[in-house]
Amino acid sequence: MADSDFTRLLAAQVGNEFSASQQYIAVAAWFEQQTLPELAAFFYRQAVEERNHAMMLLKFQMDTDREAHLPGVAEPRSEFADPAEPIRLALEQERRVTDQITAMATAARAEADYQAEQFMQWFLKEQVEEVSSMNDLLRIVEHAGANVLLVEDYLTREAAKAGGGGVDPTAPPAAGGAL
Ligand SMILES: [Fe+2]
Ligand SMILES: [Fe+2]
Repeated sequence: MADSDFTRLLAAQVGNEFSASQQYIAVAAWFEQQTLPELAAFFYRQAVEERNHAMMLLKFQMDTDREAHLPGVAEPRSEFADPAEPIRLALEQERRVTDQITAMATAARAEADYQAEQFMQWFLKEQVEEVSSMNDLLRIVEHAGANVLLVEDYLTREAAKAGGGGVDPTAPPAAGGAL
């Protein structure tokens, strides 16, 4: 098991999720500097979610007697030309993560690692939501065009409807607890 494809992909994915988290902090900070607080808040929240994903993977490594290894992360992009650009980047990132998660599920099944296969089910479902919500946000930004404040209003209304969200009880446990 130590040298399995799934084990290697799992270790790499800890880094990928932390990279995603760093990228979303960079995007959030860019929006904050543009004085677009709802877009900033959306990406700060997203950054915490990605951090939690990394900590779930780390916990699974430890729970299954794999080595808990923290890879370094590359510097994120932090300069953007307009409000649509970071959201396009975020959508590409979510699609890339979906491919990574799919590769992990494929490896788990090929190796008859049913615990790993079951563990990956939540991440597959999560990626459907992540790609869909980023797609929605990109469309809203494109509809709003030059009037980005409409996007801020949209996010305020959506946040009010969601009523604070709350913790997903079906999520795998995170190392040290989810934030
Ligand atoms: Fe993630
Ligand atoms: Fe994500």
